[in-house]
Amino acid sequence: MANAAAPAPEANMGEPAPRLDARLKVTGEARYASDFPVGNPAFACLVTSTIAKGRITQFDLADARTVPGVLDILTYENASDLKHVPFGSASTSTQELGPQIDHEGQIIAVLLADTFEAAQDAAGRVRVTYAAETPSATFGAQGLTEDDATKVSERIKEAPAAGDVEAALAAADVTIDEEYATPTQHHNPIELFTTTCVWHDNRLTVYEPSQFVYGLKNSTAKKLGIDPAQVRVVNPFVGGAFGSKGQMTPRTGLIALAAKRLNRPVKLVASRDQGFTIATYRAETRHRIRLGAKADGKLVGYSHEGWEISSRRDPYCVAGVEDSTRLYAFGAVGTKVTIVHADRNTPGFMRSPPVVPYIYALETAMDELAVKLRMDPVEFRRINDTMTDPVSGKPYSSRSLMQCYAQAGDAFGWKQRNAQPGSMRDGDWLIGWGCATALYPTHVATATARVRLTSDGKVRVQTAAHEIGNGAYTVIGQMAAEQLGVPLAAASVELGDSDLPPAMVAGGSNTTASTCSAVLKACTAIREKLARAATTANDGPLAGRNPGEVTLKDGGLAAADDATEKLDDVFKRLGVSVIEEYAEFAPEGVKPDAVKSLYAGKGAMTGGPKGKKLMYAMGAEFVEVRINATTREIRVPRMVGAFAAGRLMNTRTVHSQLMGGMIWGIGSALHEATEIDKRNARYVNDNLADYMVPVNADVEEVKIILVPEEDHDVNPVGIKGLGELANVGTAAAVSNAVYHATGIRIRKLPIRIEHILEA
Ligand code: MOS
Repeated sequence: MANAAAPAPEANMGEPAPRLDARLKVTGEARYASDFPVGNPAFACLVTSTIAKGRITQFDLADARTVPGVLDILTYENASDLKHVPFGSASTSTQELGPQIDHEGQIIAVLLADTFEAAQDAAGRVRVTYAAETPSATFGAQGLTEDDATKVSERIKEAPAAGDVEAALAAADVTIDEEYATPTQHHNPIELFTTTCVWHDNRLTVYEPSQFVYGLKNSTAKKLGIDPAQVRVVNPFVGGAFGSKGQMTPRTGLIALAAKRLNRPVKLVASRDQGFTIATYRAETRHRIRLGAKADGKLVGYSHEGWEISSRRDPYCVAGVEDSTRLYAFGAVGTKVTIVHADRNTPGFMRSPPVVPYIYALETAMDELAVKLRMDPVEFRRINDTMTDPVSGKPYSSRSLMQCYAQAGDAFGWKQRNAQPGSMRDGDWLIGWGCATALYPTHVATATARVRLTSDGKVRVQTAAHEIGNGAYTVIGQMAAEQLGVPLAAASVELGDSDLPPAMVAGGSNTTASTCSAVLKACTAIREKLARAATTANDGPLAGRNPGEVTLKDGGLAAADDATEKLDDVFKRLGVSVIEEYAEFAPEGVKPDAVKSLYAGKGAMTGGPKGKKLMYAMGAEFVEVRINATTREIRVPRMVGAFAAGRLMNTRTVHSQLMGGMIWGIGSALHEATEIDKRNARYVNDNLADYMVPVNADVEEVKIILVPEEDHDVNPVGIKGLGELANVGTAAAVSNAVYHATGIRIRKLPIRIEHILEA
């Protein structure tokens, strides 16, 4: 039965099947990494640095060793067997245990004991003497260094540019030139950062929440200097990740080493505050945007300079100009991305990494220019809509942005808007209506799958993809069930184990498109085998039919003329009870050895601006804010988003992803920020009480509209990822609504009461 959470499918959309793992999750049966029972574990507790910059000059471990049950203490003095793993897809950071301290909260010792309490007690008794230096915490600090991202980052080889942007801006009728800022944010998945390591017969099993089990397997092997065949990573469910569990972090090698030294399983569950510094975060950014248009609203130039905080060691950046520059018919384009090195832990991917900060800045700038042009912001975007990349001239594979604006705008009632800021009022409340575009590059990656069909119509799919809350079990099961003509209930799906055939990182919203493409291929091979057996038989009901026209449906085979044969009978003809097919999928344009490199924990991902056509999912978001005229309290009573993302596998999981994204967007706009003590380069609100996120009371009506779209260019299954789509436009839409309510333009996130009071 369709309802708001499970919309009735329209064209090119799949049924809103309930999640295959729903029962496991709501009953607590779903086994997360640290839930796996291991025999006689020792417990680990991390000690982290209390300074952000300098050196450890001395450890005094005597008091710690007096705690009953303490087994071992790892420090840089005795854990030097670990190998260097370079920064990048394999590892979030090149951070070592010491003696050099590069950021506050750096792991400097691991306490191991018979009980968690003993390990924690002993950790508190470790005395460390430092030679401390003054750290540079963030933008504006003394002692920062800068790098041109194109020179040091794998993410951006060349800054997107087209034409002469300076000349174009100089010749524009109307321009804006503004700066925007976004804060540090931490993922704060409810499942903490845990690692459990067990050695058995010189083989290591790692239970750790991971968005990339093959990546973690291979990186851990590198870190330990052993053969990857000796390492298995097991993790069937991830309790939230959002990018924070995509690569190896420094803790894994340490826990594996500790388990080896003790010859005993070791379990680590790091604390919430440690999670702020032993994993990654969304980096603070600054932007300068210049936009120019003719008086009729046609854009003529777009210049976007971005600055992103990274650590001293590692050149992390997101370089969102790679995507933002494709969005409209900009005319001339000029971009630059600068990495700013501070005494901080290395940032990393966080939901929609490149587009969240860069599209917030661009979509706020677009609103500002629309105001200056005295033009409706939707109309302004319509005038500058394009099917062609302004940078490369490549066509979009499909683009339904204006259909999204039309549908969301109608549902929202945008036509009733009075454009005059501060003009819409309800008693004490100033009403503001704003909108913005969401876009996300359609990624597709290498993937493999093994699919088994038995004569009784049961299906098993195995692929080392990841259930991170995305509905992976369900949509992968749906694809196999559909292709093999059996009900979803007949399908079982195994994920999250590096002993299964590899799949790519659950990042960049590629999972559904990539794994379903591999599943489709394996199912096609099964169908062909069965169709050949049925049609080449002398006596069967399908004898002589064209095998290419035979489909699997209703638990059997069906020819174009509706002649059918039961699955069981075709299996008998073949003389087998099980058919199992393994398939490798590699998207167009990747290197021939891409699947081989996937086995080695690397793989390849393409899409967005990289292929022959531009591949993007898009959406339009409308927001109403109400701001108290006196106290400036900001509420968001309603939001409407319409999204188009190619084929949708399951309207229930899609609705959930998109609604969750827009809710996260409220957080980006109004709540989320990690505060940093600038004197000590130390995070202040490193707990769930002080780190603000939207709660039920902050979220009222969220309406999601699914806009049908068909795209046969993106990948064999026509799916565009959308896990990271809906949180992209929201912050700008809220910010634009705040301007409309008050006439006050705030160019820094999150927008808080005090910012409006101060203005
Ligand atoms: Mo997502 S931030 O691409 O894991």
